[in-house]
Order: sequence, then C-alpha cells, then structure tokens
Amino acid sequence: MGEPTPLLNLLEYEAAAAARLPRMAFDYFAGGAGDEVTLRATRAAWDDIQLRYRVLRDVSQRSLATTVLGQPLAFPALVAPMAFQRLAHADGELATARAASEAGIGMILSTLATTAIEDVREAMRGPLWFQLYIYRDRGMSRALVERAERAGCGALVLTVDSPILGRRERDVRNAFHVPAAFPVPNLTGTPRTTLAGAASGAETASALASFVAEFWDASISWRDVEWLRSITTLPILVKGIVRGDDARLALEHGAAGVVVSNHGGRQLDTAVSTARALPEVADAMGGRGTLLVDGGIRRGTDVLKALACGADAVLVGRPVLWGLAVDGAAGARRVLDLLRDECDLAFGLAGCASVADVTRDFVA
Ligand code: FNR
Repeated sequence: MGEPTPLLNLLEYEAAAAARLPRMAFDYFAGGAGDEVTLRATRAAWDDIQLRYRVLRDVSQRSLATTVLGQPLAFPALVAPMAFQRLAHADGELATARAASEAGIGMILSTLATTAIEDVREAMRGPLWFQLYIYRDRGMSRALVERAERAGCGALVLTVDSPILGRRERDVRNAFHVPAAFPVPNLTGTPRTTLAGAASGAETASALASFVAEFWDASISWRDVEWLRSITTLPILVKGIVRGDDARLALEHGAAGVVVSNHGGRQLDTAVSTARALPEVADAMGGRGTLLVDGGIRRGTDVLKALACGADAVLVGRPVLWGLAVDGAAGARRVLDLLRDECDLAFGLAGCASVADVTRDFVA
C-alpha cells in the first residue's frame, strides 16, 4: 500500500544495507576487531556527551561551510577512506565520489580502492585526498605517492594504526576475500593475487589478513613520516592518533595534522573511544595543524560535539557504504544529505550560526 517509508536516518540505512548485502561483504563493512568493544563504545561515546546549548542568538541565517587544509567543504565532513567499495555497489568509489561532489564535501580514497585514483579524481569535484599504508617495498609506496600527486590529490593521509591487522573474527569466519573479478587497480602483481587468496586456498582465514602480513611494514616508525615528508610536497595527515603526545610527535615530524581515529574499532579492541581522546589531542595541538576525527559519527549532533571538542571536521565511514548498498550514488548522497540536514538542525538548536560559533563550552 503506497510508497515504502523513506529511510529517516543513518542508522536505518545500516539496517537496510544488512538486508541487501551478502553476509561476507556486510560483515567486512560492519565488523570490528575482537569482541567489538571499541566498535560499540566509539559510537556510544558521542551519545554520552551532553550539549550545553545557548539561546537567543539569532540563528535565522546559518552556514555550515568551512575549509580544511585550505580546501572548501559545504559542511565539516569528508568521506573516510574505506577499502573495496565495489563490494557495496557495482559503481563503488565512483558513486561515492559523485555523492561527495554533490554534497559539496571531500573524499579520502583508500589505497585498497576498487577504482583507480585517476578515475575517482575525474568523478570528484571537491577535495580528493589519498590514503596510504607503508609497504615493505618503499618503491611501491613511493610510486603510489607520485601517482596520487600526478592525479591531483590534495593531501596524503598516512594510516598508522595498522602496523599489523586487527583480528576481525567475522572475516575469519567468512573467509573474507576480494573476488578476482573486482579490480584493485592501485595495486599490481602479487599483492592483488593475495587478496583473492581465500577463493583459491582452503584455509579459513581472511585474505586481507594474509595480504597485510605479507606486504605492509610492521617496522614503520616516526622516521617513515619524515621519509614521506621528504618525497612529497602534499600536506600529510597522520590517521589513527588517540593521544596528545603522539599528535605532537606527528607535527614535529612534518605532518600538517592528524585524524583522531581507532580505525572504526577494527584494529586494537578496547582502544579508547575517539570522542574521549579528542579533547586531549586538541589541547596538545593547541590550534597548530589540522585536526579531524572519525568513528561512530551517525548524527548531526555528533558532528557538533566533534567540533566543540576541537575538531575542524569529521570523517564519515560506514554510513556511506550503507547508502551505496541501498541505492548507489543516490543512496550515498541521501546519507550525506541527511547528515548535513541534521547538522544544520543541531547548529540552529544549539545557538550556533556558523562553525566559528562552536566552542568547547558547548560540551558538558
Ligand atoms: C575502513 N577504514 C580504513 N581506514 C584506512 O585508513 N584505510 C582503509 O583502507 C580503510 N578501510 C576500511 C574499510 C571499511 C569497510 C571500514 C568500515 C573502515 C577505517 C575508516 O577510514 C574509518 O576510520 C572508520 O570507518 C570510521 O568509523 P565509522 O564512521 O565507520 O564508524
């Protein structure tokens, strides 16, 4: 009878995606490490913060616009780097780029994307940044950096919370792998074959886990941030920071800023929630450098809280994949629009007419 009820918020998109995606893909997207304590706590930590809203501040004209690393965003968000987006929808990263473009925000492309950097750049109007892991073969890392520069990416995001891969039991159970039909075009040769591993092998283990163990360098250290700094002119953000001292080290080693992140609860289980870590990191940085945060951002009020705790913008992860799974680029666009509208509502009700109005005193 009549039209189906539209999905009203990001959480409903997750439920709808769960009903559509094959188990292996849904579990890979949704899951976390170990008992998924950090996965749940990172979401809940935003709910635990209470807003000290202000009143009688004329919020009839509101703007959510901001700039991050000198690049404009219609509202303070970018799409987080997430691997293998064609497992959510055939258009994969291209659909995400279109959705982010239409929403007027930025996108960070994962090294493990199922679409080539150059093709995503073409589909993307706003800021496109490239996410990197450091490979044992530094030549491979250097070649990727040069490729991202040539393609016109505006920044590099070095993920440092994954010297080894967290144990994601859902992926082990499902023998997670990336079917050979899906391209991973920013990788060539043996690494790509390893990702398809479980398809050919008999062992019940995640092919991603085998890939990481074989190709990523667990010996990476702050020296590698300096190395990266020395081979590129692009600004570098260090992603995966949860402490003030590490944030300060990142700046000292040439980073332009950090992303407070626990990898969406996919790496060290029982790691601190990002909402809890953020104020410490903001204090340590003292306004020097760019500060982003991710993990469990599902509501406009979460974005407001993140800004109040010192972030310049947030990264949105899984909800974009749920939008893709439900309706490709249009679904991802709707997810971003819902978040933007919720931000606008939260700003207005809290007495903030612009991002500059959001200060630490707004959180209890
Ligand atoms: C990720 N994340 C991630 N991070 C990164 O630096 N490189 C990557 O390739 C990936 N891949 C990836 C795949 C999937 C399926 C997920 C869910 C996450 C982590 C991601 O960038 C981000 O830190 C978290 O997802 C943010 O949390 P929410 O918004 O998903 O709760």
